[in-house]
Parts: sequence; structure tokens; C-alpha cells
Amino acid sequence: MSAIRKRAAILISGRGSNMAALIDAAAGSGYPAEIALVVSDRADAAGLELAARRKLATKTLARSEFTDRPAHEAALDKALREQRIDLICLAGYMRLLSPEFVGRWSGRIINIHPSLLPLFPGLDTHRRALEAGVRIHGASVHFVTAEVDQGPIIAQAAVPVHANDSEASLAARVLKAEHRIFPLALRLIAEGRARMEAGRTVLSGLQAGEDALLMSPLAQSSPVDLEQLARITP
Ligand code: GRF
Repeated sequence: MSAIRKRAAILISGRGSNMAALIDAAAGSGYPAEIALVVSDRADAAGLELAARRKLATKTLARSEFTDRPAHEAALDKALREQRIDLICLAGYMRLLSPEFVGRWSGRIINIHPSLLPLFPGLDTHRRALEAGVRIHGASVHFVTAEVDQGPIIAQAAVPVHANDSEASLAARVLKAEHRIFPLALRLIAEGRARMEAGRTVLSGLQAGEDALLMSPLAQSSPVDLEQLARITP
């Protein structure tokens, strides 16, 4: 790991629970990135208060303050450069970014999405997963490219869909998975162990537990539990 921590910005529009997971991870010793800026496109985003309580630099760039998307993105770009940001994390940021903006930050901007991409890009992922009747759902972190939710995948976690799940219960299970993989993905990129090359994610030096995460009770068992299980399974 390089001694100099990468400077990460988190872009939010709302609650900010994924932002909080990144902040907590970055506060841990040895984490290779620091959260240098939180930007919201909504003044009423709950996450802003949370970030301020954690003594982080925050900035609100409300859509309504700008005439059009280029003006809004120019202000965003300026704020990021002023803070010498290396990496951008989209954590529930609800505004689409232009191909020009994404191109400028190519390979240095990542997004968390509440489904196992390429399934269910876009909105209402949990409702659509329930309607489709999938037995496994989950979350993905991917590099952001011009096509929404289509960029190369960095980390994924799968969770079971239970027969009696509601949208809310499934969303809560997936959210826990999101909070695991977003800090993992940022770590991999900040350490240069995940990079985007020719439209693909190239991973190197993965350690135990850094593969795709399976968030079922069985998969979360420690090796000792699995050994015990093997002994009692006929
Ligand atoms: C998360 O489910 C994330 O995957 C999606 O928007 C939601 C944001 O939640 N992109 P939070 O603001 O991080 O709590």
C-alpha cells in the first residue's frame, strides 16, 4: 500500500448510509483513502448533516442554482479539483452525469448499485427483483462509464431472496451488502489493485475475503463452522 492516501470525494443526494460506510472505513487505520469532500446536489440531503457531524468538508451544488447540466457539472468539477480529489464515489447520487464529465474522470469514478448487474440496471431494483422471482439478489460496485449502470464491475455481493420478502426487507438485506462492498471497492482502487483497462476491470493481488461476497448465513460462516457442518451432514 502506498503511504500517501488517495483523496476521495463522495457524491450523494439523500440518506447517505453508503457514504457513512465509506467514512467509517476511511477512519480505520491503514485504509488507503481519506474522504476529502462530500458533495450533495440537494440541500436537504440527510447525509450532509451526517458528514458535517463527522467534521468533513461538504458542499451543496443544488441543481436549481445552475442554468443547465454543463454549468452544474463545471461547478462540480471545479469543487473536486479545488480539493485535489483523486477518486469519486457515487453513493446514491441521483443525477445523471454527462459522458464528458465521466470521460474526464474515467477509471477514477465508481458507483454503488443495488442489484447484481447486469441484472436490473436503473431504478426500483428490489421491486423488479421480486417481480422477476429471482432467488438471489445483491449489490454491485462498478466503474462509471457513459452508459448508466453498465461500467465494468469491481465488487459484488449476493444475498438470498426469502419467500416472504417485501421490497423493504429485501432492500435492507441488500443495503448491508452494499455497506460491505463499497469500502472494499474503494480500497482496491486506492491501492491500485483494481483498475479499468480497455473497458474491463483488471484485479490484482486479491486477498482472502476480497472475492465476490456471498452474504448468506452459510457463506458467512467461519471455516470452523463449515467444518462442523461437514461433520454433522450425512
Ligand atoms: C443505495 O441503495 C444505492 O445502491 C443506490 O441508492 C441508495 C442510496 O442509499 N444507488 P444511501 O443514501 O447510501 O443510504
